[in-house]
Amino acid sequence: MSCIPVITIDGPSGTGKGTISQQLARKLGWHYLDSGAIYRVLGLAALRAEVDLQDEQALSQIALELPLSFQDDQESFRLFLKDEDVTLKIRSEECSRAASIVSAFGCVRAALLERQRIFRKAPGLVTDGRDMGTIVFPDAIVKIFLDASAEVRAERRFQQLKKMGINANIDAILAELRARDERDRSRAISPLIPAPDAILIDSSGLSISQVMEKVIALLPKEIMGK
Ligand code: DC
Repeated sequence: MSCIPVITIDGPSGTGKGTISQQLARKLGWHYLDSGAIYRVLGLAALRAEVDLQDEQALSQIALELPLSFQDDQESFRLFLKDEDVTLKIRSEECSRAASIVSAFGCVRAALLERQRIFRKAPGLVTDGRDMGTIVFPDAIVKIFLDASAEVRAERRFQQLKKMGINANIDAILAELRARDERDRSRAISPLIPAPDAILIDSSGLSISQVMEKVIALLPKEIMGK
């Protein structure tokens, strides 16, 4: 076990966990891992390779060889597939869906496990995903499970797309989000469930700064004092 501290923030999409995790990592001066982005890049690579999204073996091979790199320039976290910046591309509905499908396979998850653990570097790591507190970093010092109602999460996604100038249908977003939740929660391997020692926060009626306040209140004093 490593003595480098980890804070995990798990939960479904649209709860604000990405924003909260990034802000917290900045505030503490710690490293940040967006584990969902890794599955999204794999989804994109699989779609481009025209691999059957049910072909576990082919997907694991792509996962093992995935030419993925991260760049953290203090302004934003960027992701590269080989030399291509795919930070925005992996946020499409197509990649969201592909990521949710490919991430259900045990061999795929095993192939990506160590890639996630190497992010644990001094002085500490803030990470978000689905199984950060249960499987990847079970010895994390603080585990948070962030949730919100499906309607609130769909509305947030709708507003996000609108801001980006993308015309979307809220009912279609809600249906896709529910299907994805169902896949993520019901899969046999690393399902989306709170770790037994996770603290639950419902962000439904809360702003990002209100959630952040709650998270900070949960951190040991020695971490905030550092
Ligand atoms: O957090 P996100 O929406 O970017 O994640 C995209 C998909 O990746 C999600 O539907 C499930 C999968 N995922 C996972 O299986 N395990 C993680 N730790 C993070 C994401």
